[in-house]
Amino acid sequence: MTSIATSHPPTHDSPRSAAHGWRERFGDALMGSLATPARMLERGEGCHVWDVEGRRYLDFLGGIAVNALGHAHPALVEAVSRQVATLAHVSNFFATPPQLELAERLRVITGAGSRGRVFFGNSGAEAIEAAVKLARLNDPHGSRPRILALANSFHGRTIGSLSLTGKPALREPFEPLLPGVEHIDSTIEALDAALDDTVQALVVEPIKGEAGVIDLPDRYLARARELTRERGALLILDEIQTGIGRTGHWFAYQRDGIEPDAVALAKGIAGGVPIGALVTFGDASDLFTAGQHGSTFGGNPLATAAGNAVLAEIERSGLLGNAERRGEQIRAAIAAIGSPLVTELRGAGLLIGVGLAEPVAARVVAAAADAGLIVNGPNDSSIRLAPPLIVGDAEVAEFAELFALALEAAA
Ligand SMILES: Cc1ncc(COP(=O)(O)O)c(C=O)c1O
Repeated sequence: MTSIATSHPPTHDSPRSAAHGWRERFGDALMGSLATPARMLERGEGCHVWDVEGRRYLDFLGGIAVNALGHAHPALVEAVSRQVATLAHVSNFFATPPQLELAERLRVITGAGSRGRVFFGNSGAEAIEAAVKLARLNDPHGSRPRILALANSFHGRTIGSLSLTGKPALREPFEPLLPGVEHIDSTIEALDAALDDTVQALVVEPIKGEAGVIDLPDRYLARARELTRERGALLILDEIQTGIGRTGHWFAYQRDGIEPDAVALAKGIAGGVPIGALVTFGDASDLFTAGQHGSTFGGNPLATAAGNAVLAEIERSGLLGNAERRGEQIRAAIAAIGSPLVTELRGAGLLIGVGLAEPVAARVVAAAADAGLIVNGPNDSSIRLAPPLIVGDAEVAEFAELFALALEAAA
């Protein structure tokens, strides 16, 4: 057993002391489920972060589509500071003004309107857990045992959300998972074949982020909406990664002109303060009754005040339009690099998948970081970009320069 004398107590005297031996300390203190990261970050401002050695990086991953307003945005800092000094947490025995305000805002921006209802949790996986329970409630007579999800999808790592996740390598160590979940191919033909009146719900990501930013086939969501309505199944969209303006719309389904029965949200809502939400539409809003679901922290005033600040700032600064425009600009900049490694560009707005000709994503990510750029590789042959929605001309130009260096180094 490690004695107190030989362990490494946290020290906060200076950046140098925070940096000292941090990799060993990480491996020692953090659960083995996390690989030791390559860098330790200490602070951020706008679209940049600094590591404990004082190196600056352009952050084009945004905490995986979380830091919608970048780092240390004054609107978020002000809202969180004010709320923590006013009322940080109560419990579900009490309502609070920020909680109501955020629920009402989410009803408006999702289009769920006055028939919408919002459940708050603390993460994407919890939003999906609520969605799984909603699906179960769409089977009052026990005649709909099935939930459909897509092969290669990602919905989280709790047992319920992992049951929906279509990645065998993530699932297998934890089987048996929930019964009744089936993973189908992401084609309209597979949907037509599988979706009958034994299905509680179809759960779909409009763009599969963790799979490498993979788009659905054209008209997939429209067909999913038609079929689920015809067969009495719920259409549940996982917009945890695509939602809150990331694709240039508040939600990706709005590009397709459809409305789901429920949408799961998290990541960008509160710009880095943990939160998740399930928003239901129409009759699906009547499925849960009091006492059937809950969360100690979910919807607390601190997280919801942060959410209100982020959503207000997205509106005030026109960040949906910015996401669309900057997305185009970044795509054009990547095309202009002319690297033979880049085979395709996927996704929408500021969720961009760069397809690579060879399985060298890890090399590109490492070379980018060495050059001062943060991106990630969700699989061997894809790079994902999900920069803050506030990204501007200067950051796009800096990205183009650094990404060109990274592609060249990896090639
Ligand atoms: C589409 C999607 N669903 C669910 C999740 C799980 O969210 P969390 O990690 O907050 O539990 C993620 C996280 O990456 C995601 O991208």
